[in-house]
Parts: sequence; C-alpha cells; structure tokens
Amino acid sequence: MSNHVLDIERIAVLTSGGDAPGMNPAIRAVVRTALAHDLEVYGVESGYEGLIHGAFTRLEARDVGGIMQRGGTMLLSARSKAFRTEQGQRDAIHQLNKHGIDALVVIGGDGSLRGAHALAQQGVKVVGIPASIDNDIWGTNMAIGVDTALNTIMDAVDKLRDTASSHQRAFLIETMGRECGYLAVMAGIIGGAETVLIPEVETSMEEIAQSVEDAYRRGKTHAIIIVAEGAKIKIHDLARYLDEADVGFRTRITILGHIQRGGRPTAFDRLLASRMGVRAVEAAVGGHFDVMVGLRGREMTLVPLEEVVSRQRRANMEYYTMARMLAR
Ligand code: F6P
Repeated sequence: MSNHVLDIERIAVLTSGGDAPGMNPAIRAVVRTALAHDLEVYGVESGYEGLIHGAFTRLEARDVGGIMQRGGTMLLSARSKAFRTEQGQRDAIHQLNKHGIDALVVIGGDGSLRGAHALAQQGVKVVGIPASIDNDIWGTNMAIGVDTALNTIMDAVDKLRDTASSHQRAFLIETMGRECGYLAVMAGIIGGAETVLIPEVETSMEEIAQSVEDAYRRGKTHAIIIVAEGAKIKIHDLARYLDEADVGFRTRITILGHIQRGGRPTAFDRLLASRMGVRAVEAAVGGHFDVMVGLRGREMTLVPLEEVVSRQRRANMEYYTMARMLAR
C-alpha cells in the first residue's frame, strides 16, 4: 500500500468471475464517485476476457442509471482462461496502456482478486472489491451478493418446509459453495435445518441418518438437510442412503443452483456495494493500490491484495456448532 497521492485522470472498472447480486450498485458507485472526482471512467465488458481484447466503453452518470435494483452485471462477466496465462496478462496490460487507463477497479471473487494482484505485481494500479455469493474471500466480513443469496435460500427453504411438513418428508437442499460452507451454515441456522453438510467438516452418512431418525422419533413433521455443493458426501448418495436406512421420512432433493446468484440485491447488498464502490475510488484517488476494500465491523477498510489472495476464508465453526445446537 503506497500513500502518496497520484494524479489519476482515467479509471476503468470491470466485473469478473461468478456474478453476484449487487455488482450493479457497485459499478454505479464506482462510476459516479469517479465522476465526482473529475475522472474519466471506462467500463470493461466481460471481465478480464474483455480487458485482453480492449472492450472499453466510456461511462457517464446516466449510463449507470436504473441499475441499482438489477441483479447480474451490466458490464457482463466471464471466467477468462486466457487471462491466467502470461501472454493474456501482457495483452491486458497493453490494452490498459493503449487506452491510457491510470487505475483499474476489479469487482469479483477470489480468483478475480488473484488476477488483480497479478496485474498489480506487474505495475498496474488496481483496487479490488469483493463480490461473491460464497463469502469465501479473506479480509471482509461480507462480500457483495452474500446477503441476497442467503435471502433467496431462506425463501426456498421456507417454501420447501411447507411441502416437507405436509408429506412428512426429509428435504435435502443443496446450496452453492464449492470450497466454503458459509451459505450452508447460515442457511442451516435461519432455515432451521436438522443437519448441515459443509466442505470443512467430515461427517458420516450413519451419523446423518441417526440425526434424521432422531428428529422423526421426536415427532418432527419434516427434516431439512442443507448440503453445501462442495461437501464430501454428495446429495444423491445421501438421499439413497437415507431411503435405504429407512429413517422414517422419505427423501426429496432440491438443488438450488444458479437461482442463488440472481435476483434484486437486498438493501444490505445495495448499501454494501455502494459503500465499497465509493471507497475503492477514494482509495485510488488517495494513491492506495494493490488493495481490496473490506468490511470490518461497520467500517470500510483497505486490505493488501497479497493478504487476501494468500489466505482462505472458510465457514465459521461457531456458527456451525450453533446450527447443530438449535436443531432440536
Ligand atoms: O460464484 C461462486 C459459485 O457460485 C460457486 O459456489 C459455484 O461452484 C460456482 O460459482 C459455479 O459457477 P459457474 O457455473 O459460473 O462456473
């Protein structure tokens, strides 16, 4: 993190990796804060893929009007294979120089922030904004999109519980989260699940069957089992096992999938995204680069990207224990 104030005239912004509800309000905040600082702003289409190909468009205040309430990203997103190569990064830097871009704001998840750090190490002035429904990014309590995704999951679990109760069934519900069980654990607490399976904790099918059977014997009318996408036990194997073990409830499976990535951002995500967008541009104007904006407590902080990419955020075990304790 350098501290000297630089003369920045032109700034670019891109969204990269899996989209997250709230990326649009973040773009809006970046563009309008930059304009408030008399900077020229460019949007890069399709993340690093567009950067490599020089897909820059000048953005004015009106161009980001009416996007606050929209899920997805108006700038489009991509997972760029080409950018992971040395040549891809050279091409990206060439395009930044060709278009006279002094600073770049990258909105995305851990892979995108790793890309941002790689650019910074090659001299590009980059600021990151964390956006990923998985909440697996080190250095911020919340990433943009997490709250909206959780609300979507909560809504689905509430609906599934209705039908589960009517038929006295066990519902196995898969949430996203390849490496991190954050969404599953939180969904377990707010959705009143009997059991939560996450990548961070090894569980046996026997143990799960026992807890579901116990719930049945205690007179529960349904069982909710939340399975994170990355849990070692796979949802279909578990359903088969439970049906064969005859735990009382018959099972049904719902994979929530990409529904979790869409939808209108919640009030929390709009505010978080707006604050982060503002802070990112202020960081750039103040000469702070190779950093990510993070939420610590209620404050916006700047975390070195080196730290962000060298650590991994995983599900909080206190919450995991809480979810288990409350499942009685
Ligand atoms: O955004 C992160 C994430 O939602 C992961 O939980 C999931 O495994 C992945 O994206 C799937 O994304 P895609 O289908 O875009 O590759």
